[in-house]
Amino acid sequence: MEIKFDSVTKNYGPISAIKDLSFTVSQGDFVFITGPSGSGKSTIIKLILNQIKPTSGHILVNGKIPKTEKEIDDNRRKIGVIFQDFQMITDLTIEENIALNLDIVNFPQDQIPLAIDTAIKKMKLQNRRFLFPGQLSGGELQRACLARAIAISPQLILADEPTGNLDPVNAWNLVKYLKYENEKRGTTIIMTTHHLDILKSLDKKVIRLTKEN
Ligand SMILES: Nc1ncnc2c1ncn2[C@@H]1O[C@H](COP(=O)(O)OP(=O)(O)O)[C@@H](O)[C@H]1O
Ligand SMILES: [Mg+2]
Repeated sequence: MEIKFDSVTKNYGPISAIKDLSFTVSQGDFVFITGPSGSGKSTIIKLILNQIKPTSGHILVNGKIPKTEKEIDDNRRKIGVIFQDFQMITDLTIEENIALNLDIVNFPQDQIPLAIDTAIKKMKLQNRRFLFPGQLSGGELQRACLARAIAISPQLILADEPTGNLDPVNAWNLVKYLKYENEKRGTTIIMTTHHLDILKSLDKKVIRLTKEN
């Protein structure tokens, strides 16, 4: 999936979050977005997800500005998302969390069981699938989030500070797994991070944001 920002500005009332930002993430790219806290990293993720609209400028998905609800939904279904704070539903098991997300993106009902099994096995969560999020360690939880993201066979994975709550070993494992998805499946990856060691460890494109005010 190709994402193009064309002179995008986003203000929250009087607060400027990003200003006149242009970049292109091509199909199959692995791109890091870095910058200090408050520089607009999460804003970019929310703009791509269409959770918020730009104040000015355009965001093109595969060369097109999505306009109708259907176009926005169709794009959303192809995007897997992982967050620093996991965002799992606490009273559903890991398996149920993955199933719910598949349901939300309208994954074909008859393929849901296999999609869950495959994602669970890939992320080595066979012994955790019937547990609740509160019963997992941080590293396991982030693997569960990744299982939820990859179960939908995404064309794009958005990862917003996914290593923020992980120790270095788990952080590195997560990044290795994203690299694997990118190389083996051609999934486009956009990952925000302020961990310089992670940026340095992979030779990938980096979008550097600054905080102006
Ligand atoms: N919903 C909001 N309302 C008002 N200001 C916001 C909102 N979300 C983010 N901001 C502001 O926009 C700027 C960028 O925030 P954010 O995108 O979360 O940065 P980052 O993820 O890099 O820390 C910050 O100054 C932040 O305070
Ligand atoms: Mg953020």
